[in-house]
Amino acid sequence: MSRGPVGVGVIGAGVISDQYLSNLTTFPDVTVRFIADLDVPRAEAQAQKYGVPGSGSVEQLLADDSVEIVVNLTIPAAHADVAHRALDAGKHVWNEKPLTTDRASATELLEHAGRAGLRVACAPDTVLGAGIQTALRAVREGVIGAPLSATTMMLSPGPESWHPNPAFLFARGGGPLFDMGPYYLTTLVSAFGSIGSVAAAASMAFPTRTVGSGPLAGTDVPVEVPTHVGALLRFADGGASAQSTFSFQSALARQGFVEITGTDGVLVLPDPNRFEGDTVLWRRGSSEPETLTAVGATAGRGIGVLDLARAIRTGGSERASGALAAHVLDVMLSIADAADTDRFVEVASRAPQPEPLPADWDPAAASDLG
Ligand SMILES: NC(=O)c1ccc[n+]([C@@H]2O[C@H](COP(=O)([O-])OP(=O)(O)OC[C@H]3O[C@@H](n4cnc5c(N)ncnc54)[C@H](O)[C@@H]3O)[C@@H](O)[C@H]2O)c1
Repeated sequence: MSRGPVGVGVIGAGVISDQYLSNLTTFPDVTVRFIADLDVPRAEAQAQKYGVPGSGSVEQLLADDSVEIVVNLTIPAAHADVAHRALDAGKHVWNEKPLTTDRASATELLEHAGRAGLRVACAPDTVLGAGIQTALRAVREGVIGAPLSATTMMLSPGPESWHPNPAFLFARGGGPLFDMGPYYLTTLVSAFGSIGSVAAAASMAFPTRTVGSGPLAGTDVPVEVPTHVGALLRFADGGASAQSTFSFQSALARQGFVEITGTDGVLVLPDPNRFEGDTVLWRRGSSEPETLTAVGATAGRGIGVLDLARAIRTGGSERASGALAAHVLDVMLSIADAADTDRFVEVASRAPQPEPLPADWDPAAASDLG
C-alpha cells in the first residue's frame, strides 16, 4: 500500500484548472505530479505556472506510476471516456461535474471502479466548504425542526460573456440545469436525502449565443439544451419538496439562493457554488434573524480531491462520492425528461448521504498517511 502524500494528475488545463492547481499545490497531503491536455502546450504552461514536474499528453500522464488520482477537468462530453481510461490505468478518479452525461455511462463508470477496486468521486466540493457545511450541520442538529421544503434560484444571463470557450456549456451535458444544477441539487440531497420524483417546465430563448471574451469573441455557438428550467422536486422520504429554478436567460442575475424551511424556522444558506458565506436563521415566532457564522474549510476547489486522497490512505469513505453524483445526474436527467413529457418522473436511484465534515477539518494539515 502506498504511503505519504497522494500523487495527483490533472487532465484538462482549461479555465477551472487554475482554481484546482492553486489549491492542490498547497495541500500537504497531496502532490500534483503531472498535467495533461489534448492541447499539450496548454498543459505545459499550467505545469510551469504551478511548479508541477510533469506535463504532456493523456497517455503520458496515465503511464506515470506516481499519479494515484486523476483529476478530470475536461468538458462533460469527455468525462466518462477520460475516467474509464484512468481506471484502466489503475488510478482513482475525481471528475468535474456532471459525472457523465447519461445514466448508462454513469452506472458503467461506477461498476468499472467497483470491479477495479478503485474510487470515483465527483464535484461539486463547494458543498464541503464552511458555508454549506455549517448550514447542513444546523439542519442535522434540528435548529429548524423537521425540514419541510426548500426553494433554490440560479438565474443569470449565461456564461458566454466570460467563458472563452463556452460551446460545451450550451451542448448536451451543459445548460443551466447540468452546469449549475449539481451545486443546488447536491446541497438539497445532502440536507433532505434522495429525490424521489420530479416535474419540470423548460424553454430556450435563443438558438445561438455569442462568445464574449478570448480569441473566439464575436463567434456564435449553437444552443442545444434548454436555457431555463423550473423544477418541482419531491424527496423520497418524509414528504418534503423543493422548487428550483435554473436559468441562463435572465438579464437579472440571482445566483446562490437556497432557502430551507422547517417546522421551527427557516435557514437562508450561502451560495452553494462558493466555499464560504454565513447562514441566516429565522426562528418561528422571532422577528429578528440570527447569523450562523460559517465554520470549516474555505480553501476552495480541490478540497473534495483532498478528502478523497485522505480516504484512500485511511480506508474511509470519500464524501463527494460517485454514487451521490450519479443520483444528482439521474435527478437532472429526470428533470429534463419531465420537461419533455409534461409529467412527473420517478427517480429510481438513491444517494448515500455524506457525513458532514468535522468543523475542524483542515486542508492545510499534514496527516499521518502511513
Ligand atoms: N469554468 C468554470 O468556472 C467551471 C467551474 C466549475 C466547474 N467547471 C467544470 O470543469 C470542467 C472544465 O471546465 P472549463 O471551464 O475548465 O473548460 P475549458 O474548456 O476551459 O477546459 C477544458 C480543457 O479540457 C481539455 N480537454 C477536453 N477534452 C479532453 C480530452 N478528451 N482529453 C484531454 N483534455 C481534454 C481541453 O483541451 C481544455 O483545455 C467542466 O466539467 C465544467 O463543468 C468549470
